[in-house]
Amino acid sequence: MDAPKEVALAQSVVAPLTRAAIFLVVCIRPEQDNYAALRSFFADFSGLVRAVEFRDLEAGLTCVVGFGSDAWDKLFGSPRPAELHPFQEIRSAGRHAVSTPGDILFHIRAKRADLCFELATQIMNSIGDAISVADEVHGFRYFDDRDVIGFVDGTENPRGGAAEDTAIVGDEDPAFAGGSYVIVQKYLHDMKGWNALPVETQERIIGRKKLSDVELNDAEKPPYAHNALNVIEENGKELKILRDNMPFGRPGHGEFGTYFIGYSRTPRITETMLQNMFVGRPPGNYDRLLDFSRAVTGTLFFAPSSTFLDSISGDPPNSTAIAASPKSDAPSASTLGDASPGTLGLGSLKGHKDE
Ligand code: HEM
Repeated sequence: MDAPKEVALAQSVVAPLTRAAIFLVVCIRPEQDNYAALRSFFADFSGLVRAVEFRDLEAGLTCVVGFGSDAWDKLFGSPRPAELHPFQEIRSAGRHAVSTPGDILFHIRAKRADLCFELATQIMNSIGDAISVADEVHGFRYFDDRDVIGFVDGTENPRGGAAEDTAIVGDEDPAFAGGSYVIVQKYLHDMKGWNALPVETQERIIGRKKLSDVELNDAEKPPYAHNALNVIEENGKELKILRDNMPFGRPGHGEFGTYFIGYSRTPRITETMLQNMFVGRPPGNYDRLLDFSRAVTGTLFFAPSSTFLDSISGDPPNSTAIAASPKSDAPSASTLGDASPGTLGLGSLKGHKDE
């Protein structure tokens, strides 16, 4: 009889929306010692999260850790996640999806801001000397899950099992099953310009009613609507991502923002959405939200399984990487590597709408 397969457990990528979040993006200082220090830190990381989480279990503290492409090689060597690469900037007619530095992402979420704050503090106490902070954003849930431009954000996210199918790598990359690709972008809004628009114009830009959050019907929704450009179908299936955007800002400084975070089992889906938004589908039919929102960061990470994280030791690369078998219930995506021109090659991913 075959030995039972080891199952790689995902980090808390699929988590309920929380009232608070901290997005901490850091760069590793180049001295060699820092890589060993960080490997030792990650070897104990789940224990650190548990210690802070236990102070109020009801608050549901979680932290997803992701690694950038260069950092992966330096920390873990090979094998590496099949689709991990630096974030590709996009420029089109004055619109710019910038690519900015970042070696490690900590996506900290909880019902209580103080728990997020405490974990970020503990992380910095442990690794502060080995890293420099590229960006730190403290997000908050705004009224009934609205972003600061006033629209409910997150409605069409996949839920339950569909969220896992959307976000978690399966047997298309067996050594990294249980992982997830994460793209983050920090957007700043021109609130004066946005608020000067009639509500009906704002609704056509988003593609939903502002107060009720109901989707505009096909006759009302223009082709440039945000939710028209971000619906991607292939072979009749919708290809989704899992978002957990958060508002942030400093009214005293005139800063009003949305921190975009999108998880998916392949970065190509989020990248296609960004092309649609910034270049347009077809080109020129771009997302009018960008006339009032400017991306000031953009970075791609891979969040390995928690099984992988727990297997890290302080040892140098190539002695830490594990090859766990995929989750037994992971859907097959065997055609992932077969992208043919004009398609994302994602035919076997399940599309889930309205689940
Ligand atoms: C300025 C930053 C952004 C804001 C304020 C924003 C806001 C929104 C809002 C209000 C909705 C409608 C409610 C919902 O279904 O969640 C939405 C939907 C969506 N957004 Fe964004 N978004 C932003 C950036 C992005 C980016 C960068 C992407 C992808 C790369 C993206 C992908 C999506 C997707 C996939 C949907 C759901 C479409 C559907 O199935 O109907 N968004 N967004």
